[in-house]
Amino acid sequence: MLIKRRRGWELPESAATPEAVYRDRRRFLKTAAAGSVLLGAGGLLAACDEPAQAESRAEDLARFYPQDDPSAALYPVPRDPRFELDREITEERLAVTYNNFYEFGSSKNVWQNAQDLEIRPWTIAIGGEVEKEMRLDIDDLLQRVELEERLYRHRCVEAWSMAVPWAGFPMRRLVEIAKPLSGAKYVKMTTFLDPDTAGGQRSSWYPWPYVEGLTIEEATNELAFIGTGIYGKPMPKQNGAPLRLVVPWKYGFKSVKSLVSFEFTRERPVSFWEEIQGREYGFWANVNPEVPHPRWSQAQEELLGTGEKIPTLLYNGYGEWVAELYAGMDQTSRTLWM
Ligand code: MTE
Repeated sequence: MLIKRRRGWELPESAATPEAVYRDRRRFLKTAAAGSVLLGAGGLLAACDEPAQAESRAEDLARFYPQDDPSAALYPVPRDPRFELDREITEERLAVTYNNFYEFGSSKNVWQNAQDLEIRPWTIAIGGEVEKEMRLDIDDLLQRVELEERLYRHRCVEAWSMAVPWAGFPMRRLVEIAKPLSGAKYVKMTTFLDPDTAGGQRSSWYPWPYVEGLTIEEATNELAFIGTGIYGKPMPKQNGAPLRLVVPWKYGFKSVKSLVSFEFTRERPVSFWEEIQGREYGFWANVNPEVPHPRWSQAQEELLGTGEKIPTLLYNGYGEWVAELYAGMDQTSRTLWM
């Protein structure tokens, strides 16, 4: 992975409004239009302008989302208030157009190519060390779980970060459905493999398909989340539709997209990037500002959208949830952090 510098089109839009604020503003404008709020002439003028702008923005954003997604009616979902942010939510347009998805190319602007991915029908295989192997249809799975929204920070190993309203369900719930046997120590998660659709998978120097792994303890930690939506809508293809992992205390490459399989294993799986360059992208990949990547510092991160540089936090600020997972391990070893 290379560090990508922000390009012209990635500058924040003048109306870089988090969706919640935007919704509140629309509610306010509605009330004002009904005559229950008195506005001065200047305010009224501004108010007249705004709905049109907001409307065209919503329409503009629609093209980044899957059309005719059968799960669309499930969103938005209630927010879990336990997960608070220390920063603004990243502007939606940026989060859905600035992506890493090597299956569709190595530029950040892969969202167009990702539209070729067919996300229905979509089957997820659960196997390995489980009571009974099974295959689940995504829409059946979505009926079996309770969806919620969580605001999480998302820190890429490339030293940029976002703050995203994910929708989905705790990974612990998926582990419950899978019923792993006592010998299961890890969960290996695998992305689809379809080189005809995903041009990047025709490049033979990557070990396709993209694979990631967690220990069972990590997978059942409260923070580990299976993302199925974003910004109150179903997951865009470029962000990993129809379901992906979200583990915010780890560098972003652990959050594997467009999953087709969860395999419970005795042996630790070898992750995609670990296989390519294990010295730079290890299995654990916990965020730590004090351990530089061999080629750059991890002390700071650039907030996507504003360009502001802020200090990176240990475990991306989620130590209270996850530090105990690693308490017995050698904290000075690089491998925990790379
Ligand atoms: N999953 C797959 N299958 N392929 C990828 O290339 N990139 C990873 C991760 N999951 C990747 C993936 C990296 S490096 C990051 S930072 C995040 O996805 C980016 O997620 P986002 O595009 O939703 O921000």
